[in-house]
Amino acid sequence: MARSGFIRAASILFPLLILVNGQTTSNSADGLNGSAQPTALATVGTVSIDGTHTAFRPIFTIPASADEGATLLPNIEDPQAVNAQDVCPGYKASQVKDDERGLTAVLTLAGAACNAYGTDIEVLNLKVEYQAANRLAISISPAFIDSSNYSHYIVPEDLVPRPTLESSYTDIDLDFNWDNEPTFWFSVTRHSTGDVLFTTENQKLVFENQFVEFVSSLPDDYNLYGLGERIHSLRLNHNLTATIYAADAGDPIDVYGSHPFYLDTRYFETDGHGKQKLVKNSPLPRGNSGGSKYESYSHGVYLRNMHGQEVRLQPDSVTWRTIGGSIDLFFFDGPSQREVTKQYQLAAVGLPALQSYWGFGYHQCRWGYRNWTELRQVVDTFKAFDIPLETIWTDIDYMDQYRDFTVDPVTFPVSEAQAFLEQLHADGQHYIPIVDSAIYIPNPTNSSDAYATYTRGNESGAFLLNPDGSQYIGAVWPGYTVFPDWLSKYSIPWWVNEMVTWHKDIPFDGIWIDMSEVSSFCVGSCGTGNITLNPVHPPFSLPGEVGNIIYDYPEGFNITNATDAASALAASNVNHPPYVINHVQGDLTVHAVSPNATHHNGVQEYDVHNLWGHQILNATYQALLSVFPGKRPFIIGRSTFAGSGKWSGHWGGDNTSKWYYMYFSIPQALSFSLFGIPMFGVDTCGFNGNSDYELCSRWMQLSAFFPFYRNHNTLSANSQEPYIWESVARASRTAMNIRYSLLPYIYTLFYQAHTTGSTVMRALAWEFPNEPLLAGVDTQFMLGPSLLITPVLEPGADTVNGIFPGIIDGEVWYDWYTQEKVQAQAGVNTTINAPLGHIPVFIRSGSVLPQQEPGYTTAESRKNPWGLLVALSEDGDATGSLYVDDGESLEPTDTLTVAFTVMNGKLKADVNGNYKDTNSLGNVTIMGVDGCDGNVKLNGEKIDDSKVDCDEGTGVLKLTGLNDVTKSGAWIASWTLSWA
Ligand code: GLC
Repeated sequence: MARSGFIRAASILFPLLILVNGQTTSNSADGLNGSAQPTALATVGTVSIDGTHTAFRPIFTIPASADEGATLLPNIEDPQAVNAQDVCPGYKASQVKDDERGLTAVLTLAGAACNAYGTDIEVLNLKVEYQAANRLAISISPAFIDSSNYSHYIVPEDLVPRPTLESSYTDIDLDFNWDNEPTFWFSVTRHSTGDVLFTTENQKLVFENQFVEFVSSLPDDYNLYGLGERIHSLRLNHNLTATIYAADAGDPIDVYGSHPFYLDTRYFETDGHGKQKLVKNSPLPRGNSGGSKYESYSHGVYLRNMHGQEVRLQPDSVTWRTIGGSIDLFFFDGPSQREVTKQYQLAAVGLPALQSYWGFGYHQCRWGYRNWTELRQVVDTFKAFDIPLETIWTDIDYMDQYRDFTVDPVTFPVSEAQAFLEQLHADGQHYIPIVDSAIYIPNPTNSSDAYATYTRGNESGAFLLNPDGSQYIGAVWPGYTVFPDWLSKYSIPWWVNEMVTWHKDIPFDGIWIDMSEVSSFCVGSCGTGNITLNPVHPPFSLPGEVGNIIYDYPEGFNITNATDAASALAASNVNHPPYVINHVQGDLTVHAVSPNATHHNGVQEYDVHNLWGHQILNATYQALLSVFPGKRPFIIGRSTFAGSGKWSGHWGGDNTSKWYYMYFSIPQALSFSLFGIPMFGVDTCGFNGNSDYELCSRWMQLSAFFPFYRNHNTLSANSQEPYIWESVARASRTAMNIRYSLLPYIYTLFYQAHTTGSTVMRALAWEFPNEPLLAGVDTQFMLGPSLLITPVLEPGADTVNGIFPGIIDGEVWYDWYTQEKVQAQAGVNTTINAPLGHIPVFIRSGSVLPQQEPGYTTAESRKNPWGLLVALSEDGDATGSLYVDDGESLEPTDTLTVAFTVMNGKLKADVNGNYKDTNSLGNVTIMGVDGCDGNVKLNGEKIDDSKVDCDEGTGVLKLTGLNDVTKSGAWIASWTLSWA
């Protein structure tokens, strides 16, 4: 059956062929190929395609049951589950040796083995290192590793670097204490305050081959953040099980990424005599009001472990459980969030990639763009509506039958691609295609189904295996697929070659990596013995496919923890480990490559599952370095691990066009700030479901203040490009105008993140660390140190309530639009006017914001005059900075930095560096001036009165038309501007 006759038809009813547990049936013989035709058994259905390109042939449909696993009862929900703390003996430390650098000891099981969820390890090694002035490391691992305790796969340093010793360790402010009564326990204390940050006192250490547990008590009403990835408020709930096992699941909780790290912030009330009392957050104290002063101390905790984990938060404790690996714990002493985040990135996971300038432009995507012509129409429509468009994206529609590194020869032919992309690039715009994680395995009985990408990868041994050495074959969009084995030394060269080769046909500008958890639509190697059926249809309807498919295949069995634990003693079970983590899919084999998939070096996926998405980002980073030598790779990936920020940005995955999802985008982004992945954004206007003008208008405005700004939509949902509704077009233009004018500020923030580990999107609590009231605020956020964003997050509203932080300490806020000082009280919600189309933005006093006149693209913007927006503090001071380079070199040789300082009516721009930028300075706006006599001078030369507008009433001094006095370039030399 010729495929093309089906996939381009507008509305076709397809006969479906259902494959169930390797058995198939059909009402059409067309889909049956080759010798491996299973016996007919299943129900037949029909599917209609709504005219989008994404459509399927009359082919075998994998039955839904193929993606159903065992019905498992998560341990935490099992009333009969054994509590390891009750039955396990704990350990005793001996052979303790300590010196100024730390301590080593042997831990020996303190009684009879409990074998609660695996096999107890008799002897462990403890190693404590004072690693640096701000970092303590505690590592506990089996003394002997052999095949009997297989799952102690210790994280290799080349996969996930381990923080190393630094000479500054002598100044450390963290103390390690331990004791053997009643059994071995340890604590970590902040030396300078005596505060106990972590203590396992009265809790047992449990260390089995497939289960590790340690428990620390936590102060009342603690503030913990992080432990991603999940859809959750920023401040973590006190009855939460944070499961860390990468999953292709966007709703209701998002667990694409794995970030076993938390930030713990504690507020203390100071009584003026140096004494401190820990503050409870509920009811929330206001900040430094009513005579009380508060201080906060933050520390970070990172567990360097890539096995499946559960971090159980309860009102007074945190229980950390893993299903393998070792305890490799790092404590970062802060003492502020800013320092914790820097320490974590600098020592543990690496600094985020320097982003290309163009990446901060607006991105448009959807699943369902049908051909190059439609893309051209979208690009042109943006232009016609004067809505900036930097980058157009394509989803899987462009591929030839969803196969990576191909294009559909009819709808997205190479010949048209070249013309389309040439024009796009000439207009200063960019193109990003999706690349999926799975690789189609061609039907061996059909020579026309040959797929060179697979052949080359297979020949070089680049794909995952089954335990018996055969190929692991799962299923994703194209049908049965294989999966790159990132532990094989052949996989990255193969991937690089595929991307370099493909780029010659399709000159893309960056890559979108999807399905990287790594997702598979069936349990286990479901394609084994079935690839003669390829290409097959996924075991579910795609959005827009209408069908009456009935899959009546019951699932297999129930397993409780008790029965599984017993069997675990016999042999480790990686697909169904005895401890059942509370995973979104229930069974770890469901909708993902199964834990028993085996790498060429023998390592099982069980041990490295959480790393798959991280490694494909590394491979893609290497590939893009080859495609664009010397340039910064632009990558957005779905599954991330601690450290992925050094290669890639991240989007929030499959959200829904609902108001609450718009809210969740803020805590999700802020969490990724903590994880060192600042290049973050979500599917603006919502992915699943239909959006409407009100939500889309609010969301287009909110996302304009996120680092990564993309609108993306699912197949068959109503269009939601911002030009679809007039009100959304207007709202988008307004917000984009602000964003593009701030590109120099945003870019500078990213440069600082890349060089120092500072954050870009910030929680209010991080910028104002002495206000306990802010501990849980995640409906507002800061973009860098200077901008406060207070979005409307609910329908039908004309106003929004928001806090103006810092007022208690003399902070002043200026309204972005009116440039007037905000009248607000400390520590209370203020009602802010916010009709549809208006997003409240406030500028923090004491800031100098570098700006550039917005162009249609970032390239155009970069050619426009500069501007400065100065918001004076009550004392008339302000500071700011600007970083400029060519916006694309991986290691720019020519750079420019400008430090701005304002004092006593003088603004100094201190210019350093050799990057040549010849754009003039167009205007300077200074808010909060205390009178001005019109005598404004640049480097002592009076500026013509016609360029000066001083409003004594509002205190705003505006200088415009400065271009002719700064003709040779705003930053050609340092300068001083004075007005008083
Ligand atoms: C996944 C992605 C989504 C994409 C879809 C089709 O669900 O998360 O963004 O549109 O696959 O490729």
